[in-house]
Amino acid sequence: MNLIETLDTYQQEALQAISQAQDAKAVEEVRIRFLGKKKGRLKEIQQELSKASREERPELGRRFNLAKQTVEQALEERKNELGKPEKKTDGIDVTLPGHPFSMGKRHPISQTLSEFKEIAGRLGFDIEDGPEVEDDYHNFVALNIPKDHPARDPLDNFYLAVAQAGHGGPWLLRSQTSTVQIRVMEQTPPPVRIISTGRVYRPDTIDATHSCMFHQMEGLYVDTDVTMSHLKTVLKMIATEYLGDDVAIRFRPSFFPFTEPSVEVDMQWGETWLEVGGAGMVDPNVLKAVGYDPEKVSGFAFGLGMERLCMKRYGIHDIRLLYENDVRFLSQF
Ligand code: PHE
Repeated sequence: MNLIETLDTYQQEALQAISQAQDAKAVEEVRIRFLGKKKGRLKEIQQELSKASREERPELGRRFNLAKQTVEQALEERKNELGKPEKKTDGIDVTLPGHPFSMGKRHPISQTLSEFKEIAGRLGFDIEDGPEVEDDYHNFVALNIPKDHPARDPLDNFYLAVAQAGHGGPWLLRSQTSTVQIRVMEQTPPPVRIISTGRVYRPDTIDATHSCMFHQMEGLYVDTDVTMSHLKTVLKMIATEYLGDDVAIRFRPSFFPFTEPSVEVDMQWGETWLEVGGAGMVDPNVLKAVGYDPEKVSGFAFGLGMERLCMKRYGIHDIRLLYENDVRFLSQF
């Protein structure tokens, strides 16, 4: 085989090996095999070249360089094709994935309160707040709950062991948001149309449906000629907005000292009826306690349990999950 044929074979074999190399490391092996300074195939051919005659040498030299360049170029292209070999930079690997971070979310109860405020706001209700530490007057007296009423039982309330409140009675953690009705009416002449959301506290044995602290939304509308049918319409609209169009609502006769008549409010969404709170027409004694004239104005009030509605909507079966702050649970909402 003459030298030119050897060069052709060399070039062919090299190009084939290059095209078969599957990664940068394999390309490098091919380079060493064909172009390596010590034992590369080209080195052997170069040695042969030195034995050629003077006349042959220039043409052989040209062919030699051409074959070498062709192989070098093919190696370069293949290397680029397969991606650059791993290189150590100054400790920064820009190809590493970034640190993932997760967005925080609002607690499902906070989301629920916001949603109810938004719904009631659209119906024209103003949003009011009241204190969680309340006095006996606003939690009971002004709400027509007499001194000997069982609702005042120390076993059913969190009374505070501190000095007496302004009106002479004890302080307590409010047991209902109805306190805000009184606080608003004391400050504002009729008409009033407000809702108030917040925490309430009652000693209870904690289980899947009971907690010592939960959230209520209170509603109050006092004006001339407010009737029970306004109450039912507003509750139906709120229920529909929160749970969906196919909600039914029903009233069952009940008793609260601060409303007359009084009802329990049930909502049906899916198979079952759910008791969601109490409501009624504001008792004339309550109107009198805040200086309103029961002959001139009437009103309705309602108090809804927020946990119940939130749990129904999201299919949560244990109220305790809402207070454990387990991110695996909370991140679902
Ligand atoms: N405050 C009552 C409760 O906690 C609910 C209620 C509010 C009832 C307003 C009638 C009117 O159960």
